[in-house]
Amino acid sequence: MLGFREMAAADYDAMMELWRGVEGLELSGADSREGIAAYLARNPGMSFVAEAEGRLVGTILGGHDGRRGFIYHLAVDPASRGRRIGAALTERCLGAIAADGIDKCHIFVKSDNEVGQGFWTRAGWAKRSGFDVFSRGTDVLELTRAEVR
Ligand SMILES: CC(C)(COP(=O)(O)OP(=O)(O)OC[C@H]1O[C@@H](n2cnc3c(N)ncnc32)[C@H](O)[C@@H]1OP(=O)(O)O)[C@@H](O)C(=O)NCCC(=O)NCCS
Repeated sequence: MLGFREMAAADYDAMMELWRGVEGLELSGADSREGIAAYLARNPGMSFVAEAEGRLVGTILGGHDGRRGFIYHLAVDPASRGRRIGAALTERCLGAIAADGIDKCHIFVKSDNEVGQGFWTRAGWAKRSGFDVFSRGTDVLELTRAEVR
């Protein structure tokens, strides 16, 4: 039987197993056990899992920064695709973000992730042009946290 519930930090091992077997996901240091627990604590009630016959088959991480929503790690086990699990996870996540008064949500999709590109396009998400993503590690800063404040 298929069911959905809020993601918990205790789901970590099962999620990692799923994520390692799913193409198109970028795992990073932010996906450490501590990183995921901190993300869930900062964005309560916005990340979800799907379970089928007691096994974790889908995930979505959602949150917002007070201005825009962001979705990460929408993943469905290859054997469980095409059952609208991805759509249901997205709906729950977007609904939770909207309930906080956030009116727009973004997702980063790798340019060569054809499956992801196809899914978001089919779901009505607009592909933006005219932007590039610039990133930098925060560990290069010379000021201490106390000095910034
Ligand atoms: C993308 C992914 C989550 C879709 O999960 P899913 O449960 O199979 O998707 P759903 O069954 O909910 O599909 C919902 C709709 O999208 C469509 N769809 C799904 N994948 C699609 C694709 N690659 N291209 C076009 N349409 C797609 C379905 O046909 C369905 O259409 P409908 O509205 O006409 O019924 C899954 O393929 C996956 O985990 N991919 C690898 C990880 C990934 O790329 N994640 C996105 C990261 S940005």
